[in-house]
Amino acid sequence: MKHLLKMQDLSKQELYELLDLAATLKAEQKAGIRHPLLKGKTLGMIFQKSSTRTRVSFEVGMSQLGGTALFLSSRDLQIGRGEPVQDTARVLSRYLDGIMIRTFAQQEVEDLAKYGSIPIINGLTDYCHPCQVLADLLTIREHKGRLEGLKLCYIGDGNNMANSLIVGGLLAGMSVSIATPQDYRPAPQALEFAKGYGDQFLLTDQPEQAAKGAAVIFTDVWASMGQEDEAELRKKAFVGYQINDRLLANCAPDVMVQHCLPAHRGEEITAEVFEAHADEIFDEAENRLHAQKAVLVKTMA
Ligand code: CP
Ligand code: NVA
Repeated sequence: MKHLLKMQDLSKQELYELLDLAATLKAEQKAGIRHPLLKGKTLGMIFQKSSTRTRVSFEVGMSQLGGTALFLSSRDLQIGRGEPVQDTARVLSRYLDGIMIRTFAQQEVEDLAKYGSIPIINGLTDYCHPCQVLADLLTIREHKGRLEGLKLCYIGDGNNMANSLIVGGLLAGMSVSIATPQDYRPAPQALEFAKGYGDQFLLTDQPEQAAKGAAVIFTDVWASMGQEDEAELRKKAFVGYQINDRLLANCAPDVMVQHCLPAHRGEEITAEVFEAHADEIFDEAENRLHAQKAVLVKTMA
């Protein structure tokens, strides 16, 4: 695997290989076994947006694998002053062994990969969040014992999380149902991908219909990073798209709840549902570390 730019870049086999490696690395970590698979290697981490989980889990992951991580804020880099990504890619390729980038445009990540000569890992763009969805699939498999044939539901904004869950869920052999308001649908590329999966995929504006019989239900914030100005407008548009006890009554009785975090209690999820499913949600956050270590090993070792 050369890069991880988006979920569509993975085959089903590559996806399962990543999940299996993540599970192995997690078990070894818990048993106190460490393999310095990235000894002497340096990962640059470019952040054009805020982060708690992504930053810390990548940095800790590199350290546990024997390597080093450099935090590179766009506030300090020349890229933040307009130096082209094509040049940044070629310069950083001379120093680093890999780059993790969190930014706005997916094209910037694709360009880093095109012009650079080292592995590029997408740490979130407006289009997708593949590292998060790998952690999500790992968590579901741990809790449910399998992915194939399970129903995954997502309620809320058709954003980066929705796009990656559509592709990742379908690729893993799950059925995927998404409920968003008409004006906030997932990206065309994700819907195009889903076309190949027939009735394994459902897109609706009815949360109850999407949630029916779901084994796992996801949501995410109504206003993503970069959309802060639209927050009030979005609060009105997303009324009815909340994970609460009434919506959960439509799901399978043992439904899991997942949230990539940060969460806005009282908006996309009630405080009651969040706390009742906190163990699952924080397992999901922990699994960012294990899933990303698998990505780092597959791309950089
Ligand atoms: N879920 C996630 O990516 O969290 P951060 O924004 O804190 O990295
Ligand atoms: N959709 C959210 C995810 C944060 C991890 C955002 O892009 O801000």
